[in-house]
Amino acid sequence: MNETLSLDQTVQVTLRYPVRFCRQAFAPGQEVLAELLDGSPQRRRRVMVLLDSGVAEAFPGKAAEITSWFAARAETLELVCPPEIVRGGEGIKNDYRRVMSLVDLMLEFHLCRHSVVIVIGGGAVLDAAGFAVSLVHRGLRLLRMPSTSLAQDDAGIGVKNGMNLHGGKNTIGVFAAPYAVLNDFALLEGLPDEHWRAGISEAFKVAMIKDKAFFEELCGLAPRLGRRDQAAMERVIVRCAELHLEHIATGGDPFELGSARPLDFGHWSAHKLETLSQYRLGHGQAVAVGIALDTLYAAGLGWITDADAERTLAALRACGFVLEVPELRICLGDQTPAVLQGLREFQEHLGGELTLTLPRPIGCKAEIHEVDETGMREKIEMLLSCAAVEA
Ligand SMILES: NC(=O)c1ccc[n+]([C@@H]2O[C@H](COP(=O)([O-])OP(=O)(O)OC[C@H]3O[C@@H](n4cnc5c(N)ncnc54)[C@H](O)[C@@H]3O)[C@@H](O)[C@H]2O)c1
Ligand SMILES: [Zn+2]
Repeated sequence: MNETLSLDQTVQVTLRYPVRFCRQAFAPGQEVLAELLDGSPQRRRRVMVLLDSGVAEAFPGKAAEITSWFAARAETLELVCPPEIVRGGEGIKNDYRRVMSLVDLMLEFHLCRHSVVIVIGGGAVLDAAGFAVSLVHRGLRLLRMPSTSLAQDDAGIGVKNGMNLHGGKNTIGVFAAPYAVLNDFALLEGLPDEHWRAGISEAFKVAMIKDKAFFEELCGLAPRLGRRDQAAMERVIVRCAELHLEHIATGGDPFELGSARPLDFGHWSAHKLETLSQYRLGHGQAVAVGIALDTLYAAGLGWITDADAERTLAALRACGFVLEVPELRICLGDQTPAVLQGLREFQEHLGGELTLTLPRPIGCKAEIHEVDETGMREKIEMLLSCAAVEA
């Protein structure tokens, strides 16, 4: 029989998840988390808590505070085991055995699809633990409590989970929406300066391609952010989170099936710098350098003014970012800067044609599909020569 039979399947799924902001989520009278968990005496909600070791160290009483908070609500919520401390930082994303040990833990406590796993941590723990949660019974409910600025305004609020294999960033993972997100601003107080500021570069990223007014605001706030002003940071996080959420909801490609990824402005080099530095450079710091490089490139194309490019670099520096990192000097045998390999790797990760998003002008975006490597080398040298001038 030569006939073919075709059936066309359409399934529409609406993803909906609350994103809430608070201070001190586990203070005795604080109910926002209980509302999100939505347990009842008839159907007590079973909950597991995974706690980033960085948070546990910065707030030594946190695990006990969490346990007491649940004990006071035992009628509607069941904490299945004491908070499990998960070593924080990129290491967990590089080690599938640690991710699988979280899967083991969830199975050991017989969590089901109605159970909630709360992950309190930085972007790395959220990505890796979120990946583990997505595997158990094909996906438990994940309630993220991002604990770094970058996780609160970017990594923790979207639909991506994953880890690093074969030496590349995020080479395996899944798209899966969280059950809910709760940003507790008080957690930021425990962060070392580097991680306190990391989320600011993601705010510049999204402002420069989507919201000129926010870009102006960021330039104005930069000195306060450099002094670690908490109110300024909270404003940055809320606006950056709004812009990210809006993009995921209305950008038309939440699961990144196309070749373009506007929210990755500045990221092709950032991901490469992170791996070249063996993760000495955190994501936010690397993104600041990536933004600086692509900003200079956009100015070279005439898409933004030189004055705007200078303002961007000055504001990033005022926030405390270092833009002339030694990893930019690493060269391959033929003297090509190793960071340029990031272009090919970025294309491979996204698939399809190379597509980079740049500001054109500030607050709007445009795409390029080819990069003049000589021009980009010049921009790398420009950034590095700024270091020589400043030294
Ligand atoms: N899924 C996404 O959409 C997405 C988006 C952007 C970035 N990311 C990923 O996020 C990761 C970076 O996340 P990050 O910048 O949050 O860094 P991170 O998760 O590596 O955390 C940085 C350090 O801070 C510690 N820490 C966390 N919270 C703390 C607190 N409140 N007080 C004290 N210490 C604390 C951690 O233990 C760690 O040592 C990267 O792996 C990146 O690829 C994911
Ligand atoms: Zn990023």
